[in-house]
Amino acid sequence: MLSLGKIKKMVKHKFEEQNHLDRYTHTIGVAKMAKYLAKKYGVNPKKAVLATYLHDFCKYDSNEVIEELLQEKDKAECKKFPVLYHSYASAEYYRKYIGADEEIYQAIRNHVFGRLHMSRLEEILVISDYTEENRTYPSCISCREILLSGKFNLAIYESTRCTIEFLKKKDIVPHPLQLEVLKYYEGLCEK
Ligand SMILES: [Fe+2]
Ligand SMILES: [Fe+2]
Repeated sequence: MLSLGKIKKMVKHKFEEQNHLDRYTHTIGVAKMAKYLAKKYGVNPKKAVLATYLHDFCKYDSNEVIEELLQEKDKAECKKFPVLYHSYASAEYYRKYIGADEEIYQAIRNHVFGRLHMSRLEEILVISDYTEENRTYPSCISCREILLSGKFNLAIYESTRCTIEFLKKKDIVPHPLQLEVLKYYEGLCEK
């Protein structure tokens, strides 16, 4: 298996070639937050960093490259919710070329909306993606503050709530999973 350093270089090289160094900056920000959270919440930091390095890996790939990577069963869902193309394709890339860790695979795959009963690693990737230091939207900043104050479930609830609100303003129908995740974490926060 490739070392973390080599994977980091590969990610940088790819985003550089695609003229999207901003995505590399974002990726490094996510990795920094994920590493911090992994140590705090008892997750293997190397797994967290590896998952973050690859989470947006296929973001700017051509339709052909993405179609080739995707599983048949996922294509209809991606068509309906195009934001999933990059997360599902990046997860398949991981499994095809990098490694076989199921938890890392699921974390990359589910980083956009999250899902019910996520592993801690999956949760860390979802919330690090939203709160990494380069995110400057007011909702991201306030969510980061909630997260860093130790309210992990509340941070996931808030990030999901804000994302759904943002979509509604743009007349985009949320994915059913987003609504389920919202309800689930609302329940966890009440306990
Ligand atoms: Fe993403
Ligand atoms: Fe991301």
